Amino acid sequence: MTTVIDGKQVAASVIEAVKSATQALETDAGVRPGLAVVIVGNDPASHAYVSSKSKMAKECGFQSVQHTLPEETTQEDLAALVAKLNADAAIHGILVQLPLPKHLNSEPIIQSILPEKDVDGLHVVNAGKLATGDLEGGLVSCTPAGAMVFVRQTHGEDLSGLNAVVIGRSNLFGKPMAALLLAANATVTTAHSRTRDLPAVCRNADILVAAVGRAEMVKADWVKPGATVIDVGINRVSAPEKGEGKSKLVGDVAFSEVEKVAGVITPVPGGVGPMTIAMLMANTVIAAYRKAG
Ligand code: GUN
Repeated sequence: MTTVIDGKQVAASVIEAVKSATQALETDAGVRPGLAVVIVGNDPASHAYVSSKSKMAKECGFQSVQHTLPEETTQEDLAALVAKLNADAAIHGILVQLPLPKHLNSEPIIQSILPEKDVDGLHVVNAGKLATGDLEGGLVSCTPAGAMVFVRQTHGEDLSGLNAVVIGRSNLFGKPMAALLLAANATVTTAHSRTRDLPAVCRNADILVAAVGRAEMVKADWVKPGATVIDVGINRVSAPEKGEGKSKLVGDVAFSEVEKVAGVITPVPGGVGPMTIAMLMANTVIAAYRKAG
């Protein structure tokens, strides 16, 4: 029998833990976690993600601040806002929603966030800590941290002897995901658009993680029977069966056929997605605890 992971349920238990930790921090140290989310421009999907993040921050008992900047914001304006948030003692976490509009250069902005406030785990200091196996000292990128909760739930803390394949090599997901799997002793392959015979590479995976942004690319015959399949893709495709002009969200995995082969699989929506937000809340409360000493 294939297990379909209920990401909403797992995320809800992370959120409960964050709420308790937030209350304890307020009672013991008089500190309320503060999260600032910055969004530039008009991308509707980004606005939807950001409002869920701000809403969940409030629900956790945080001070939640959202900065919505116009499309024509300059590099200097955005840098000035990050500098202000860096200096604000009530803000423990800063998230600049990506992608930024094309005229802005995201890299210097991300690297200007103080590493201890970088709840996205994208600063080179945090990426470097993860790459060198320091899992306690830094902040880990939220989506891979969330995916790793599912992997641990299924396989335990020690992945010795297991082959893991991550499809995708982005700084936001693929690289940190591979580093987390490696730190847990898996044998890790990072596959990407230049990989030769990707289906054969995937068939070797006990743990297959797909983050390519191509709707339903991973087919049943790419998957080793019984494998754990984590789908990180969120792709909007047309859904004429729901009516004219309608669309739906699908992952990078062809769920209905892969479900028949996999041992464990995450759905889209309702798999990794809710975990990203939950881990962002967890990172913010961790950052606040560290600041409180
Ligand atoms: N855009 C899509 N996912 C993310 C994320 O996890 N963090 C940020 N900053 N932007 C994103």
